[in-house]
Amino acid sequence: CGIVAYIGYREACPIIIKGLHRLEYRGYDSAGVALLNGDLNVYKKKGKVAELEAFIKEKDTHANVGMGHTRWATHGEPNDTNAHPHYSTSERIAIIHNGIIENYAALKQHLQQQGHVFQSDTDTEVFVNLIEEIQQQNHCTLEEAVRLALHEVVGAYAIVVLSRDEPNQLIAARKGSPMVIGIGKDEFFIASDATPIIEYTNEVVYVNDYEIAIIRDGKLDIRSKEDVHQTPYIQKLEMELDSIEKGGYEHFMLKEIFEQPRSILDSMRGRLELVAGHLNMGGIRAYERKFMNADRIIIVACGTSWHAGLVAEYLLEDLARIPVEVEYASEFRYRNPVITERDIVIAISQSGETADTLAAIELAKSKGATIFGICNVVGSSIARATDAGAYTHAGPEIGVASTKAFTAQVTVLTILAMIVGHKRGTLSDTRLQELMVELGSIPAKVEKALLLNDEIELIAETFKDVPNFLYLGRGYNFPVALEGALKLKEISYIHAEGYPAAEMKHGPIALIDENMPVVVIATKDSSYEKVVSNIQEVKARKGRIIAVVTEGDTVIPPMAEFVIEVPATSEVLVPLVSVVPLQLLSYHIAVLRGCNVDQPRNLAKSVTVE
Ligand code: G6P
Repeated sequence: CGIVAYIGYREACPIIIKGLHRLEYRGYDSAGVALLNGDLNVYKKKGKVAELEAFIKEKDTHANVGMGHTRWATHGEPNDTNAHPHYSTSERIAIIHNGIIENYAALKQHLQQQGHVFQSDTDTEVFVNLIEEIQQQNHCTLEEAVRLALHEVVGAYAIVVLSRDEPNQLIAARKGSPMVIGIGKDEFFIASDATPIIEYTNEVVYVNDYEIAIIRDGKLDIRSKEDVHQTPYIQKLEMELDSIEKGGYEHFMLKEIFEQPRSILDSMRGRLELVAGHLNMGGIRAYERKFMNADRIIIVACGTSWHAGLVAEYLLEDLARIPVEVEYASEFRYRNPVITERDIVIAISQSGETADTLAAIELAKSKGATIFGICNVVGSSIARATDAGAYTHAGPEIGVASTKAFTAQVTVLTILAMIVGHKRGTLSDTRLQELMVELGSIPAKVEKALLLNDEIELIAETFKDVPNFLYLGRGYNFPVALEGALKLKEISYIHAEGYPAAEMKHGPIALIDENMPVVVIATKDSSYEKVVSNIQEVKARKGRIIAVVTEGDTVIPPMAEFVIEVPATSEVLVPLVSVVPLQLLSYHIAVLRGCNVDQPRNLAKSVTVE
């Protein structure tokens, strides 16, 4: 979910609505606002922010204090009632909440006994009634009631609370869900990330877990749960406004796919120094010894970031000869995994807020492992929870399906594996220099791969109505096959499976008939000959082959229905190029099917609940 709030001298509602649009990637099941202007009015609607906007057109929205929410449903189906903000029973207090209250059932029962009445199925409504109950029992201020309530709730939250009885005040608190406060002149902004804030101010404070922010009479006061004043650490934002707008593209996803030559370059900036002939990564400097002596590396991540982790497994084992395990963060943390102080855990996350990944980090930390983070969002929770790390610098990624963040993650992981391999003596000087030059040429090769756009749109036209797709790859292209399949599933709702090409004969081959499109990533590398055999196996069963090959390949084209030629590169770097046509293929299929590419159903870009 996304939260946004404003207090100051301007009209709050337009600022909140604009902010909600920016945060919509975090969930779009429903949206709502609460405005404080003598009265406390809540307007909310199932569906996207645009529907809320239409709904409030005729309403009186004049207020200088307010808050809004865009929801990714956890408790209760997406409908008007379950939308945020939620009122307390007396309708004197309202709340917005991102997170989950785990002990809500017990609290709800108790509150019902005390006479509180619930409209929705949400845990959030329990939270706001708890605050009201505490305030009534203790005859205290809202601030005090919120603080006491936080001692009773178990779970994750970023909340903002407004009270009709205490105008000119916003109270916010966080534990486990992100929150940033923008500090303007005589005005303050609160949001789940900085995007709703940047056009008004570049001074921000990232609220820490267990902190409460009170904004009252033009002042910000941050206090601990124990009511001790905390000195806020004010940081300067470096984000550009252009980077969060579509800039002429029809969708954010397409813009982000096309941004890759630049974002890959940005992720290498200051790290790949071709003239001087060396590689840098500030983040690992202090941990070089750890990397040199590591028994193994465990990578934790979810979704697309997990696929980047799989590429890193190949890279780190190949170049640095360190055993690597790649784990779904959500499985890892509940499996009682064996972790020692000699392990290095690399957590990969675009948003830096994924709750499962964050929890996996905490677990590994408690066992003494060293945690290295690879995040895109600067100042995010994961970036702050790790011992060290490297930012991917891909710029804000807004399309829900991850594209440029993936290639930036892979770039950073490649540099990491090269540095560690070189230090450990498993990657020779000559090989390092060769790879560095090749890495330097990747942005241009990606640029060239993007020229395939029109050609791929035609292929998409042919396959837009099929119900299933298979993606096959081997070696470095196996994670790319998984990523290609995930992209298609996410945005076009076509069922797709990624498989290691050789493993296909142990099961999925049963699915192949004359209707099954099979995307085979078959670039010239050490497993090329084997993949050619796998293509023949598909062809023998009349599967429809779409082959991604290296430019100039003459062997595969006669076997395939469609051929996509990508520039040649080193085997180690091939995912950075071979993934690009797959991103474009899923994009065009989704557009042709009339799907909402940037905001696919049921998904959210940043999943801050377990
Ligand atoms: C969500 C998104 C995916 C993303 C995954 C991990 O499920 O829809 O696109 O890959 O979370 O997100 P992270 O921000 O941790 O990389």
